[in-house]
Amino acid sequence: MTDSEVAKVVGAVREDRLWQRHMDMAAFGATPRGGVNREALTPEFAQARQCLLGWTSERGFTSATDPIGNLFIRRPGADGAAAPVVTGSHLDTQPAGGKFDGAFGVLAALEVLEALSDAGIETKRPIELVDWMNEEGGRFQPTTMGSSVFAETLPLATVLATADREGVTIEAALAEMRGQIKTDETREFGFPMAAYVEAHIEQGPVLEATGNTIGIVTDIQGLRWFQVEVMGEEAHAGTTPRANRKDALAAAVEMIETLHRFMYDESDILRFTVGRLDVSPNTPNTVPARALFTIDFRHPDAGVLREAGDHIEEICDAHSGDCDVEVTETITSAPTIFDPAIISLIGDAARHQKLPAMEMISGATHDAKSLAPLCPSGMIFVPCAGGISHNEAESATPADLAAGAKVLAEAVVSLANR
Ligand code: GLV
Ligand code: MN
Ligand code: MN
Repeated sequence: MTDSEVAKVVGAVREDRLWQRHMDMAAFGATPRGGVNREALTPEFAQARQCLLGWTSERGFTSATDPIGNLFIRRPGADGAAAPVVTGSHLDTQPAGGKFDGAFGVLAALEVLEALSDAGIETKRPIELVDWMNEEGGRFQPTTMGSSVFAETLPLATVLATADREGVTIEAALAEMRGQIKTDETREFGFPMAAYVEAHIEQGPVLEATGNTIGIVTDIQGLRWFQVEVMGEEAHAGTTPRANRKDALAAAVEMIETLHRFMYDESDILRFTVGRLDVSPNTPNTVPARALFTIDFRHPDAGVLREAGDHIEEICDAHSGDCDVEVTETITSAPTIFDPAIISLIGDAARHQKLPAMEMISGATHDAKSLAPLCPSGMIFVPCAGGISHNEAESATPADLAAGAKVLAEAVVSLANR
């Protein structure tokens, strides 16, 4: 393929269409405050996938799912046997999520496929769009579930048995979705990929603050998730003396306070979040018998992640009082370093397109980390207003989204002709 053909594909990326697709997609799970609540495997999630499949089947692209419910959309290449170049992200959102986290990567991938078809260009390799199942990890833990099972870093059987707060398992929720959504094919995990490139909003304030349109992602910081379950005993709030109480919530609060102090980092690089606290029986006048909280702990340095993270269990034990405590690590993901060739390809594309760009590390985690050990992988970021994300106010401009899709188009089409 010549440079002028690549330019033709980039020129066929349509800002208006890409923006309209975001607005259409945001209708599935739309919240009154302008955000999106579309957690994995909910009816809204199935509707969003149905909508995507409507768009892609109209263009003649074929679809496939795997045993964990990842969705692949294929535009064929001249060499049917060649491993595809894969690009995409996720259509699921946080319960109080926005219109762009995940959706942008899927819709930018669709824009690349459509731009290729509009330009009448055949690539050597097939190009596939992917919508990874349950990237967010809000309804079902952990995060980046579909890509982790695909990469065989999470066992399928364990994941299928994972339940949400209402006791609905992934297995049951997947079966329900499969009843609503038909794909052309089913396939197994681990099929070869020539490369993986994911576009995403930055979810942080750096690009906007520095006036850059494109983030060339070099690394993703590492992450460890824990679940801490504190078991005490129900007792009457009015009659039970202190010595007879096993107050799971009081113990959990002490643990959380101590952990926050322990994890305090003057340089503000370490990220420590307790984002979920479930108390039972959760009535005003019963001493809580059970408190469950989650820990999301991140750092770019594998050593810090290991050493500080390894203190979590001992801190929880030390503050359990008369209660029992069980600490379970639900996900461990080492810092990811992306492929230097993909990093420079994205940088070259931004330069050709005269877009201001900078290299950066991702604070958020992404499915690309699961793919990085399997094939050359990389990510492209675009700015979001105020760096706000995992929030209904999440916002990005049509021009920035289109710029990201154009850089993605150049990178993916170049890779698909190698
Ligand atoms: C992804 O949403 C993350 O938690 O970084
Ligand atoms: Mn995301
Ligand atoms: Mn997210």
